[in-house]
Amino acid sequence: MNDASNHHTHTGRDSFGSSFGILVALAGSAVGLGNLWRFPYLVGENGGAAFILIYLAFVFLIGMPIMLSEFVVGRRSQSSARGAYQKLAPDGKWGFAGSLAIVCCILILSFYSVVGGWGIEYLFKAFRFDFTKGDQAALSSMFSTFASSSWQPLICHTLFLLASGIIVILGVKNGIERFSKVMMPVLFVIMIGIAIRSLTLPGAREGIEYLFKPDWSAVTADTFLDALGQAFFSLSLGSGMVITYGSYVSRKENIVSLSAKTAIADTLFAMIAGCAIMPAVFAFGISPGEGPGLVFITLPHIFSQLPFGGVIAILFFVALLLAALTSSISLLEVIVAFSIEEFKMKRRTAVMLTLVVLWVLGCLCSLSQGVLSDWKFFGKTVFDLFDFVSANVLMLAGGLLVVIFAGWKLGRKIIHDELSNSGALKIPVWFVDTLSFLIRFLAPVAIIVIAVFQWI
Ligand code: TRP
Repeated sequence: MNDASNHHTHTGRDSFGSSFGILVALAGSAVGLGNLWRFPYLVGENGGAAFILIYLAFVFLIGMPIMLSEFVVGRRSQSSARGAYQKLAPDGKWGFAGSLAIVCCILILSFYSVVGGWGIEYLFKAFRFDFTKGDQAALSSMFSTFASSSWQPLICHTLFLLASGIIVILGVKNGIERFSKVMMPVLFVIMIGIAIRSLTLPGAREGIEYLFKPDWSAVTADTFLDALGQAFFSLSLGSGMVITYGSYVSRKENIVSLSAKTAIADTLFAMIAGCAIMPAVFAFGISPGEGPGLVFITLPHIFSQLPFGGVIAILFFVALLLAALTSSISLLEVIVAFSIEEFKMKRRTAVMLTLVVLWVLGCLCSLSQGVLSDWKFFGKTVFDLFDFVSANVLMLAGGLLVVIFAGWKLGRKIIHDELSNSGALKIPVWFVDTLSFLIRFLAPVAIIVIAVFQWI
């Protein structure tokens, strides 16, 4: 009686305490550097509103079905990423899909914690009012000088990992859920405040039009690729996060509504971040197509010219850190949950061992911005390699595997059973039919197309 249909065996396993807690934890994972740093610069590079519309379509037509597939796998199995596949497909051939997810999270977290560390340093700089001292030349070289140095970024990276580790050691309900419940509302309020400040700048109008008036002439094949990749990254898909968090969710929760709310919160947050950053970029005559440096290189310039810029800088980097932390704990939890289950480790031991591995890999990522910049693999530094392999290979593969698994291996009946909580919720037939179609056909085809286009 110890199979996946046994509904009562989560004794000893941690779980979430409330529906709101689940939602903020999921939204916390989704909302992160992807929204504050990646989304604005991709919008800038892809011509604004048209990119946003395509992105929205992908989030709901492809992202949501993947998220629901992961939810079905996680909640039904009540297991961490690898165990979930093994439990639901006992022929043992699917475990590799889970292992892939673990590797993916290790790679993402290695460089994510380096960028999180940059956030810590920039928060210190903001507290020292470094951005508003009026030295424009120093501002321009500030980022590259800092990121390419050896010790400082390593210390910040270590601090960021330790902070994530402390929260995860406390557990799912007492750590992740409790932290997210407090931090997500704070994050929301800060970002709305900054958005209002930015939207009321003289000259903000151009930035608003850029965000909301589509210019279809800027759309190319690459726009679609960027939009789908961003949907994956921003919703934390294809890496076992929703499987792992889903395994802590009770059978009474409505996973359709949880997924929809998570996708909406993440999208809303990306739009708020866009409204905070783009009007200011235009108002101060900075190019929106500045690329990945947008947050760390150009924003300090903006803070230096903005009335009350010193205070806004502090608030912005507090928000960035909170957003990064609620995401990093989700990545860490995927690895920790796996280690606890697979190797029967204590949570504390699992966290500490994982942190050691992440610390070493993260140090390589960090140093690859400076002294180790000559270490190239396939023409990429360690940092860029981890970023590329996780976002462009492993997440796509993970997303493809989970929709194939849910759509073809588990099938429509199990999907319906999970969505409706075994019939307790009335889920319309057309909804299940449409979703099955999206899971079985549209999502896999779209992922394969984006992967193929990427490599030709
Ligand atoms: N979604 C987060 C962001 O937008 C990053 C993230 C958290 C993530 N967990 C993930 C990305 C799992 C991929 C996989 O910053």
